[in-house]
Amino acid sequence: MFTATDFIPKKYTSTIENGNFEWSAPSNIALVKYWGKKDNQIPANPSVSFTLSNCKTITKLGFSKRYTSAPLSETTAIFSFDLLFEGKPKEDFKPKIQKFLERIEIYLPFLKDYHFTIDTQNTFPHSSGIASSASGMSALAMNFMSLEKVLNPEMSDEYFFQKASFLARLGSGSACRSVKGNVVVWGKQANIEGSSDLFGVEFPHTIHDNFKKYQDTILLVDKGEKQVSSTVGHDLMHNHPYAERRFAQAHENLDQLISIFESGNLEEFIKVVESEALTLHAMMMTSMPYYILMKPNTLQIINAIWKFRNETQIPVCFTLDAGANVHVLYPENVSEKVLQFIQDELVVFCQNGQYICDQIGDGAIAL
Ligand code: DP6
Repeated sequence: MFTATDFIPKKYTSTIENGNFEWSAPSNIALVKYWGKKDNQIPANPSVSFTLSNCKTITKLGFSKRYTSAPLSETTAIFSFDLLFEGKPKEDFKPKIQKFLERIEIYLPFLKDYHFTIDTQNTFPHSSGIASSASGMSALAMNFMSLEKVLNPEMSDEYFFQKASFLARLGSGSACRSVKGNVVVWGKQANIEGSSDLFGVEFPHTIHDNFKKYQDTILLVDKGEKQVSSTVGHDLMHNHPYAERRFAQAHENLDQLISIFESGNLEEFIKVVESEALTLHAMMMTSMPYYILMKPNTLQIINAIWKFRNETQIPVCFTLDAGANVHVLYPENVSEKVLQFIQDELVVFCQNGQYICDQIGDGAIAL
């Protein structure tokens, strides 16, 4: 079994002065939700997600060796980096990156030897309410791994991607599910071989053709800043009255998904996915302090989806993130009808009529 210390490198065999890498990494949408964590970004329960395709972060990492007149002492040296968002310096993103570098330094001991320029952009609109932390942390982790691979050319591909996911997790938990494609599990689960609390793994069992090219249309209900961040939300699962039962339920739901993915039973799929979404929000509503992230239009959309599904028997369902936006999930063969329904009946509930069409995708790509 892997432990975190397996990701502390031994001596590097190679050197490099400067250069740059560029990676794109997608967002992902959880079907079984990660909500609640222990120290060091260890999830309280296992989760599973669809990796997305169009919603992604593209990050370029420039690096050059630092030379100072005084030797860089390990205790006094600071990280040296510039952060650009869409080509312009973005000071308010820096503390999050600084914290990320501090967390991963033990696993990437070269970090203080270089000055970095991190140049990042998203393909989805800024402040759309779509969290960019999953795609963003994953894209950055991929770049750092590219640099480590130059320093240690013997590194296997398997280690490369596993460690990238491990590092991304330390930036943002859900980010570890954005490295690889299609269906990714994060968190130890008894019946999913190879599953780990330390990194995401590709779902190892059969996936029915019904789920190939599964569609996710993201309805932007509220693009404002959330009143309660995910970090605070996770924290409120400590001493939460329903936490233990909820964590057990995530294991059960993942078990159910193993057979659902194999059989392609969309009716059962919908039950698990919608229940997970509402349970996530029920956890928020039963936290102390309690809070609600759904908006009236979130509920309008949910009710309209239920009505449409009842009337047409088309297997369309919803899931929610930690916010008001609604992810509408459906198989590719009903796309035309569902998109028509979205335009006719759901767009009115979106802020400025905005929505984003996405689908299952393959994970991070070197550019
Ligand atoms: C509701 O990964 O954003 O989207 O680890 O604190 O960065 P941190 O949290 P984050 O939490 C995401 C929670 C969720 C469910 C999920 O994606 O599984």
